[in-house]
Amino acid sequence: MVRNAKMRFARAASLPHNACMTRDADKWDARYRDAAETPAARVLMENVHLLPSRGRALDLACGLGANALVLAANGLETFAWDSSAVAIEKLVGLARARGVHVHAAVRDVVQRPPEPQAFDVLVVSRFLDRSLTPHLIAALRPHGLLYYQTFTRTRIGDNGPHNPAYLLEDSELLSMFARLQPLVYREEGLVGDTRRGLRGQAMLVARARSH
Ligand SMILES: C[S@@+](CC[C@H](N)C(=O)[O-])C[C@H]1O[C@@H](n2cnc3c(N)ncnc32)[C@H](O)[C@@H]1O
Repeated sequence: MVRNAKMRFARAASLPHNACMTRDADKWDARYRDAAETPAARVLMENVHLLPSRGRALDLACGLGANALVLAANGLETFAWDSSAVAIEKLVGLARARGVHVHAAVRDVVQRPPEPQAFDVLVVSRFLDRSLTPHLIAALRPHGLLYYQTFTRTRIGDNGPHNPAYLLEDSELLSMFARLQPLVYREEGLVGDTRRGLRGQAMLVARARSH
């Protein structure tokens, strides 16, 4: 099982990368070289009960793949893609240590988005590329679930990226995925006691209609 994950990683890592991806992946590789394991996203941990009992799941732009490890531990056939070879190699080790199987691959998800109707569950955390939206919707099978959590322009403190291209506008996740049925949406902005709650991020769990 572990040997399979390693072989898949080796095959995917040998794919040609373009210069742009290489530069960005180099930056992430450097960050991941010494990085400690990150926790899974709240949108997944607080809504694990919505997962189907079987099916194919993808942790897209997975980093160290904390979401993928949760999906695999919940019985889903799990894929995890990221452009950082260092992150994917570490994820293979983490999966081995936990005795779960993850199809981990180095893959530029903007150049090679998921194929249509390929997944029952998609998880995207702390990653935003708006050009992917139609591909994510198309990649869901009927009644498939999208879990999405990322940073918003309304922020508390200095957490997250500063480039507005990587930050959600108010209610933007809802409008991006308006074709899906929202099950859970949380975005608290600056309302109430800003020392508590989910601040500087929005989360959505939404379900594909039956087509
Ligand atoms: C802030 S990290 C989030 C990682 C993980 N989802 C998490 O929540 O911990 C953003 C990730 O996106 C990956 N990434 C950026 N551009 C990418 C691309 N075009 N294709 C695949 N991965 C990409 C980076 O390598 C990095 O691991």
